[in-house]
Amino acid sequence: MACRRRKMRILLLLLFYQCATNNAENHRPSDPNFVLIMVDDLGIGDLGCYGNKTLRTPNINKLAKGGVTLTQHIAASPLCTPSRAAFLTGRYPVRSGMAALSKIGVFLFSASSGGLPTEEITFARLLKEKGYSTALIGKWHLGLNCNSRDDFCHHPLSHGFDYFYGLTATNLRDCKPGQGSVFVAGIQVYLATAFRIISITLISLLVLHYTGLFRISHGSLGFFLISTVLFGILLVFFFTFRYLNCFLMRNYQVIQQPLSYENLTQRLTEEAVQFIGRNTDAPFLLFLSFLQVHTALYASEDFKGKSKHGLYGDAVEEMDWSVGKILDVLEKWNLNKKTLVYFTSDQGAHVEEVSSTGEVHGGYNGIYKGGKATNWEGGIRVPGLLHWPGVVQAGAHIDEPTSNMDIFPTIVKLAGIPLPKDRIIDGRDLMPLLQGKILRSEHEFLFHYCNAYLNAVRWHPGNSESIWKAFFFTPNFNPEGSNGCYNSHVCFCYGSSVTHHNPPLLFDLSRDPREKTPLTPETEHHFYGILDVIQQAVNNHTKSLHPVANQLSWGNILWKPWLQLCCSSFFLSCSCDHESKED
Ligand SMILES: *[C@@H]1O[C@H](CO)[C@@H](O)[C@H](O)[C@H]1NC(C)=O
Ligand SMILES: *[C@@H]1O[C@H](CO)[C@@H](O)[C@H](O)[C@H]1NC(C)=O
Ligand SMILES: *[C@@H]1O[C@H](CO)[C@@H](O)[C@H](O)[C@H]1NC(C)=O
Repeated sequence: MACRRRKMRILLLLLFYQCATNNAENHRPSDPNFVLIMVDDLGIGDLGCYGNKTLRTPNINKLAKGGVTLTQHIAASPLCTPSRAAFLTGRYPVRSGMAALSKIGVFLFSASSGGLPTEEITFARLLKEKGYSTALIGKWHLGLNCNSRDDFCHHPLSHGFDYFYGLTATNLRDCKPGQGSVFVAGIQVYLATAFRIISITLISLLVLHYTGLFRISHGSLGFFLISTVLFGILLVFFFTFRYLNCFLMRNYQVIQQPLSYENLTQRLTEEAVQFIGRNTDAPFLLFLSFLQVHTALYASEDFKGKSKHGLYGDAVEEMDWSVGKILDVLEKWNLNKKTLVYFTSDQGAHVEEVSSTGEVHGGYNGIYKGGKATNWEGGIRVPGLLHWPGVVQAGAHIDEPTSNMDIFPTIVKLAGIPLPKDRIIDGRDLMPLLQGKILRSEHEFLFHYCNAYLNAVRWHPGNSESIWKAFFFTPNFNPEGSNGCYNSHVCFCYGSSVTHHNPPLLFDLSRDPREKTPLTPETEHHFYGILDVIQQAVNNHTKSLHPVANQLSWGNILWKPWLQLCCSSFFLSCSCDHESKED
């Protein structure tokens, strides 16, 4: 007996020893830290370092001054869900099934079954395997559950993050009382009316039936009852939208349902600061994914009413304050020289965002046309700043095409990890460009998708300064002549929402960054030759795509009550607040 116990003890010691050495061997002292900051819907024209004169973003400007400013940094998609999927995997969203065939290109509900597939490899997963401490703080928007409410198959902790604090769905007007609604308001009225009609009919039928005035079969009565109940459930969903979809989690636990906007940016910042503080002597990856500056807009007391651009400006300035706090804490722990900081937005500003009182709630895309949900430059040309003192150039501006998919190979390589060999990675290592070792981007072509539809192609030939961009279709702005799709709140990708072009609409962004004047065979002698090469590139690219399950099919985005997370046991009052009590 004693002998067995001793053996056990030795075994445990050995195990412990092995774990300890494994961890120590796994990462090298030279392994850099990564702080990746993504803002939601921020326009390239909102930042001082990109030319804004009235919005105050001193901390972000400091990043630009001490690092590289990318002036042609391209989001892989003009919408949140697909752009973030591409960012985390280094692959076009069509490769992972994160690009919709239908109108709705993002997840709207927390209890949908679609999400980033388990087979996809995120940079977080690779770094975690290497011994990095990894955290996501803020917005996820890449799914939650598959089949049951606790399988968490799409949850950040299933995709390589050790720690998660934030929102699994997205910030929306519907999450904040009094801020109006993106889509619920439109149908609430109809739902309520329909419910009234159904219930009155049902009650009348029951009365008629049981008083013997009119006999209906039990079958049809049952059918009627069931549809009423289903309809009631749907109605409850729409009226409790905020509770069911806008909640904060810490790891697997729902901690605030519905989420409170009070000091929210401060809370996210504090979480990020603490995470860095816990990892001062081990390499870490922090993905700080702001809920700002997507609507519903909010700002804490210190920032409300302080900017020159209403609540939107207040929100941008508070986000900038938060970036400053992160830079301060890196400095405090003497981690600047060991940390690569990246700053970007998931897509261009949402130009159609105007509040019910007429206040502009969308950002500014500078000289660029259109915005979020379009592949005009305004929708995809986003801020791209990389800061790493002593390693990447300080104060450099790089005009070459780069992509938010490039972060994947860049940081994986910096961590000394080989790239996955069993799949196509569309991103390219940025380091040679950032260090001035090469002057040309490795992206000769970039493919611009509107959901799952190939919308446009960018071609930067190796031997010329031109940046050709050919559109196969363009969104129909409404009202005509405006800069967006104001009648439908966002632009859509097919049907009567777009105009197809044959031959494609061709621009040279190096001469016409505003995409004002399409070229013609008369104004561009190589017109057909250019389109030929682009078509070849499309053929090559299309051949490299494999069929995958569509994560944004109707079946995968609709609300599934059995997947609904609720922090209290009584379903109709999903409500709790562990945040205020604890802190
Ligand atoms: C700065 O940003 C604000 C808010 O988006 C915008 O209204 C304004 O036009 C921008 N100003 C400049 C000079 O770019
Ligand atoms: C928000 O922050 C302010 C100022 O720091 C503080 O007075 C207030 O109590 C905070 N509110 C919550 C709910 O924490
Ligand atoms: C397409 O692929 C072929 C075969 O690999 C290659 O020779 C050609 O250069 C490619 N064309 C473009 C435009 O990428």
